[in-house]
Amino acid sequence: MKRTSLGLALGLGFLALAAAGAGAALAAAAQPAPRLLYSESQAAEGARVYGMRCAMCHGRQLEGTLETPALTGKFVANWAGRPVGDLYDYLGRAMPQFAPGSLPPEEDAKVIAYILKANGYRPGGAPLPADSAALGRIDLPAPGAP
Ligand code: HEC
Repeated sequence: MKRTSLGLALGLGFLALAAAGAGAALAAAAQPAPRLLYSESQAAEGARVYGMRCAMCHGRQLEGTLETPALTGKFVANWAGRPVGDLYDYLGRAMPQFAPGSLPPEEDAKVIAYILKANGYRPGGAPLPADSAALGRIDLPAPGAP
């Protein structure tokens, strides 16, 4: 009898630990949670623009190629902690490669919304503005601090 209850206690303790672990993992995943960065519909439109203007070089899944950087992973490290405006300005002057500046500003904002979503940033209610000065005041938060 004693043995059974000890086993049960250990089992429950393990469950509690597992639950705590899952909670911590959820909290970590929620870390990048920058709200109000972009809207869900804007990201959906951005996916369409990305497919037409960026995917042929950066890959369908933003995975990159030998010559072209991925737009996930290290990409976030490159741009986090800086204003989203830096990324917006970069797209405006450098992308798509060979036709820089050929996207209307709204499409650049949509593509950024899509890329942020693909990198785990959560949407807020408002769309990302297609405005360098406004975006210059929005810092791209670091991804979930490990
Ligand atoms: C013709 C191929 C090509 C197309 C099309 C293209 N890119 Fe690029 N992109 C590149 C290359 C090559 C680089 C690396 C440039 C460098 O290092 O100077 C790059 C770099 C970037 C970077 C910087 C990555 C980093 O980690 O800092 C971003 C962001 C980016 N591209 C976004 C886009 C977006 C958004 C589009 C679509 C609107 C696009 N690119 C279209 C080839 C392309």
